[in-house]
Amino acid sequence: MGPDGGVSVKDKYKVVVAGMGKRGMHHALAFQANDRFEVAGICDIDQSRLDAAAAKLGVAVTGKDASEVAAAVRPDVFCFCTMPNVRTSMIRAGIAGGARLIAMEKPVALTSAEGFEVRDALRASGVKAVVSHQHRYGEHYQKVAEIVASGALGRIHTVYATATGWMMHLLSHLIEYMRWYNGEAEAEWVMAQAAGRGKLADAHPSPDYIAGFIHFANGVHGVIECGAGAPDVSEVDYWWRKCRIGAQGPDGFAEVLTGGGWRAVTKNGSFSGGGSMNYGLDMPPYIQQIADWLDDDEKVHPCNFESAYKGFEIMMAFCRSAAQGGQVRLPLESPADEIEMLRNAVPDRKIALSMASNAKEYA
Ligand SMILES: NC(=O)c1ccc[n+]([C@@H]2O[C@H](COP(=O)([O-])OP(=O)(O)OC[C@H]3O[C@@H](n4cnc5c(N)ncnc54)[C@H](O)[C@@H]3O)[C@@H](O)[C@H]2O)c1
Repeated sequence: MGPDGGVSVKDKYKVVVAGMGKRGMHHALAFQANDRFEVAGICDIDQSRLDAAAAKLGVAVTGKDASEVAAAVRPDVFCFCTMPNVRTSMIRAGIAGGARLIAMEKPVALTSAEGFEVRDALRASGVKAVVSHQHRYGEHYQKVAEIVASGALGRIHTVYATATGWMMHLLSHLIEYMRWYNGEAEAEWVMAQAAGRGKLADAHPSPDYIAGFIHFANGVHGVIECGAGAPDVSEVDYWWRKCRIGAQGPDGFAEVLTGGGWRAVTKNGSFSGGGSMNYGLDMPPYIQQIADWLDDDEKVHPCNFESAYKGFEIMMAFCRSAAQGGQVRLPLESPADEIEMLRNAVPDRKIALSMASNAKEYA
């Protein structure tokens, strides 16, 4: 215990990382590069991935079962970067292993039924949690936030976001940054439409195209398009980074392009600058702020679970509206399987594309 009876600040926090794929390695390497952390255990169900990661990271405790690795290490931070079908079991492994903070990948879950379980388990345990919406550290994302906060656009009335990648990959990111640009206002209802069944069978199950509106309590409206029918962002070449997120007020607009800088038009003229999503630049501050939050309860991580959870509910409400029609009020009151709802409802018609390069994913 610390001097105030709180939990002590440690020189180094012990970390377990489960799921040693692309994002697991990003996390493990970023934790290792920060002198406040020590990666003490890793886990993957794939033995060859586990062996390769152990050799690269020099970690002694390894295993195929996350609960066993967590029980052996008793980490301060339990991090998991599995595909979105594995969530609740990892949350439980982290809590049972004594973690003080769980760092997880987006999306929060695939259905509200599982999202409720994850939320309730975290709230009941009191364990802190963060969700990796690390794009926000990009200088171009930060610049748009700065312009919005400066008042140069006047009082914001609209926030908007588009991405050509599909929902379970990208919608969570889009909503998180829209909420940020709208001062984290509460969402009161949404209304959405969906088309295209191809990606309902993907490991990130999604309609090929989903679009809709969010009404926020401060009167601002959010407009979103995600997937096959979303507009091109012709300034950006890299398909996965063709995302545009912005805010409009009476005096102008400011927007970030995930793979291509930022721009703004205000009463004072037009402005633009660089920046591109970059794991190498975005992961270090994300990891550092985990140490800061563990050190000091007041330094709540900007990617905290409660914020991500609000975005997750908006995404699930979009699915419900697309499947059942009409407006869906927030917060959601009862659990459901939104992907099953979409499987039952999205028409079996060929998807219409917004640009030829989408055909490689949404044929
Ligand atoms: N934040 C971002 O910018 C970003 C970018 C890409 C992916 N993601 C998200 O990260 C997550 C992982 O994506 P990825 O591309 O790293 O996937 P990946 O397939 O490269 O890695 C997942 C790993 O988890 C392992 N795994 C599966 N079940 C497991 C279990 N029960 N216990 C231990 N290990 C298990 C797999 O063997 C695999 O090695 C997804 O949720 C994805 O949406 C986020």
